[in-house]
Amino acid sequence: MTTQNPGLFIAFEGGDGAGKSTQAATLAAALDSRGFKVLRTREPGGTPIGEKLRSLVLDHGHGHIDARTEALIFAASRAAHAEQVILPALERGEIVLTDRYIDSSVAYQGAGRELGTAAVRQLNEWATSGLRPDLTVLLDVDPAVGRLRRTAGDAAEDRMESEADEFHAKIRTAFLDLAADRPELYLVLPAHLPVAELAGLILARVDALILSRQVARQASREGAAT
Ligand code: TYD
Repeated sequence: MTTQNPGLFIAFEGGDGAGKSTQAATLAAALDSRGFKVLRTREPGGTPIGEKLRSLVLDHGHGHIDARTEALIFAASRAAHAEQVILPALERGEIVLTDRYIDSSVAYQGAGRELGTAAVRQLNEWATSGLRPDLTVLLDVDPAVGRLRRTAGDAAEDRMESEADEFHAKIRTAFLDLAADRPELYLVLPAHLPVAELAGLILARVDALILSRQVARQASREGAAT
């Protein structure tokens, strides 16, 4: 279910330290300055219950969290996010930019925690009633570079970030596999490109998507009129 509503749904995905938040913010500003109504949000989180679940699953100090519990917490946060925030905004015709969505669970819990990518996808499709992004921007980052970037300035690593580089390497491969499976739904970019260059490439792809939607809508209106 990608194009059933008047809005546009774009997800930013990638390993930790890929620069997703910077690119989401830059795209939001560019679209906003063109007069589009943009909603920027993130996972885990995006709703009051989601933010509580976020701190449960990411903060240290909650004891051992086994892989299935972890996957269910991310999926629960996503269910609230899709139902309460994303879908209503899409129905209002807004452009929704989310920092992470289902692919993060497929990569981190399915591949990283070895729960199986198909099982985790199925859980999350159920949690979101099948709501899929129209486009996923995947910022592909080398795990070692990602770690250097996110620990610059001595920022503390959360539960997921502090996993070994091998864990992050599995996640990187899983993201790339997801994009290779459905290339028409992805824009894959190397995260090491200059920030402005990445922003330009992302905006160009989103512009093309907006245009193709307008053309499709126009055609269906004309078809209905004849
Ligand atoms: P993120 O918000 O990108 O981290 P930060 O804002 O601290 O840079 O993501 C938080 C972490 O949660 C990140 O390591 C990825 C992980 N994660 C999962 O493991 N599964 C998921 O479904 C999601 C959404 C995130």
